[in-house]
Amino acid sequence: MSSIQSEPQRYTVTAALPYANGPVHIGHLAGVYLPADIYVRYLRSAGRDVKFICGSDEHGVPITIRAQKEGVTPQQVVDKYHAIIRDSFADFGVSFDIYSRTSSQTHSEVASGFFKKLYEDGKFIEQTSQQYYDEKAEQFLADRYIVGTCPNCGNENAYGDQCEKCGSSLSPTELISPRSMLSGNQPVLRETKHWYLPLDQYEPWLREWIVEGHKSDWKANVYGQCKSWIDQGLQPRAVTRDLDWGVPVPVEGAEGKVLYVWFDAPIGYISATKDLLPDTWETYWKDSGSKLVHFIGKDNIVFHCIIFPAMLKAHGDYILPDNVPANEFLNLEGDKISTSRNWAVWLHEYLQEFPGKADVLRYVLCANAPENKDNDFTWKDFQARNNNELVANLGNFVNRAVVLTHKFFAGNVPAISGDLQAIDLEALAQLAEFPQRIGELIENYRFRDALNELMNLTRVGNKYLAETEPWKLIKTDEARTGTVLHVALQIAAGLVTLMEPFLPASAATLGEMLHLEKGTWQTAGRPNALAAGHPIGAAALLFDKIEDATVEAQVQKLLDTKKANELANAVVEPAKEDISFDEFGRMDLRVGTVVAAEKVAKTKKLLKLTVDTGLDQRTIVSGIAEHFIPEALVGQQVLVLLNLAPREIKGIQSQGMLLLAENADGSLLLMQPGQHVRPGSHVA
Ligand code: MF3
Ligand code: ZN
Repeated sequence: MSSIQSEPQRYTVTAALPYANGPVHIGHLAGVYLPADIYVRYLRSAGRDVKFICGSDEHGVPITIRAQKEGVTPQQVVDKYHAIIRDSFADFGVSFDIYSRTSSQTHSEVASGFFKKLYEDGKFIEQTSQQYYDEKAEQFLADRYIVGTCPNCGNENAYGDQCEKCGSSLSPTELISPRSMLSGNQPVLRETKHWYLPLDQYEPWLREWIVEGHKSDWKANVYGQCKSWIDQGLQPRAVTRDLDWGVPVPVEGAEGKVLYVWFDAPIGYISATKDLLPDTWETYWKDSGSKLVHFIGKDNIVFHCIIFPAMLKAHGDYILPDNVPANEFLNLEGDKISTSRNWAVWLHEYLQEFPGKADVLRYVLCANAPENKDNDFTWKDFQARNNNELVANLGNFVNRAVVLTHKFFAGNVPAISGDLQAIDLEALAQLAEFPQRIGELIENYRFRDALNELMNLTRVGNKYLAETEPWKLIKTDEARTGTVLHVALQIAAGLVTLMEPFLPASAATLGEMLHLEKGTWQTAGRPNALAAGHPIGAAALLFDKIEDATVEAQVQKLLDTKKANELANAVVEPAKEDISFDEFGRMDLRVGTVVAAEKVAKTKKLLKLTVDTGLDQRTIVSGIAEHFIPEALVGQQVLVLLNLAPREIKGIQSQGMLLLAENADGSLLLMQPGQHVRPGSHVA
């Protein structure tokens, strides 16, 4: 995949605009924003002209559904989540040049103008079709607003576009007994007109541009998806919708229609660039010397590789993406990350629980990034990478070099004395090679490998110290010890620049420690970054150990979530057949007090209880031994079915039955009166 190209004049780097209908989680960071940020930070450090563009995707049905659920307006939803998302990115050091939003005035103008040009140039086809309409709510229904029975599996709550039970993708008219989520009514079919981008007409061009042109430089997962879409044949795609939230369709006769969210959102990259650079934005989008790169997750591939490029091509004067390095998905503890199931590590929550540790998560997510296949995030791996790699390797190397310099040389970089030995020259030669090696990997979107190389540099440093042993050498040869620390400090100095794309906050801390400004990528790794006599600052801990209890608490939090989901989703058994009032009246239900309780010998489940029923003290055998400690039951009031025919259980005569509630997870709860009641009181 490595490619040698002439260097572009400038870079336009975009990261998928997240939907402003919820906060962002580790999957977003690992898949899109972290690799994009590493790429951009590296380019800046290498002195390239780069603009890093993002913002919130604030239109579309997910937003209106969320608003409806929360009983607020769509604008309130996006205002809330835009702020949360923007702050999370800032807290994780994702260094956008602009974080804009698609509800902005600029965006509305740019998206509208884009549509208008395509419309006037005759690039759309107009088509009418039958779509579901809710007569009570007086509006057409987006696919997601229609539920009904899945024709494939019988799930009664399948959506108009997909059945989440069997996974089949549907169209609304396939649903059996469809109902509107707005009113609950059965929707009716009505004719409506929409504008379509005839993707079929772009097929030969797309084939040439992607299938022929990007076979070797696009990632295999991206290329493969594109090829299979093109091979299956492309259809015209509607780019407008009947909806009241979005950019209004700017042509006559389109009242009540807005641009389809996947038409307006990618134009958001352009409008955000215009917000950032009102006068020069076009250079970043129209000049052939600009290199456009889209960072996205795999579910966005078709939109960024096929539909948006076709839109740009139709417009006529835009550049096309040079690459779309989409990632696969990150799972969490073996399960798909899911917002609705709350199965996620939310970025804003992580920082509350691990304050100051944004870089640790950046490190773990990059080291484990789902670059070529889906990957799993586990808290155990998080802990291990922090403790074994960041603390024991990177942190340890830096700490030793800085601490020993203070201890033996009063905190001033010692001079080289005499000739450098082979081991010194070897370490410095290795240091000199890393910038290019890491840079090339980053330019080829191989961020995991690049990070691994960074850690290899710290391994070089650690090995050098382990072999030269300055802490022993000082006893016999102070001058030589100075040389060794001089060399070690040059490696540490190189790290200030080379770490920065991956671990920006830690790189800044290291820079402060060494009293050294971050340099350019080209000068990183030079053996004279720190001059002899240069005073360095006190050692500060870059990373610290994460204890078992800390990650165990996170795992427990997830287990609690899982349990809550199971309870919420447990199916409730249908009601039993009706009984008469008389039949009910025949049951003698009373309040009793447990006066003694013991396990029934040689059984696992049985407890023998003595219950004061107000009438007598009787024995009741109950299968609850796995749920209650006998002693804890004594004194508790319980509800008892008194006149259940006595029966012998394990040789004990049981007279009656305790009433219990069985929770969805199988746990048992005693049914008890809300306050103390005289034993023998009737229950009815
Ligand atoms: N909001 C979309 C998502 O989260 C991504 C939009 S990317 C853009 O999947 F190009 F349309 F902006
Ligand atoms: Zn189904």
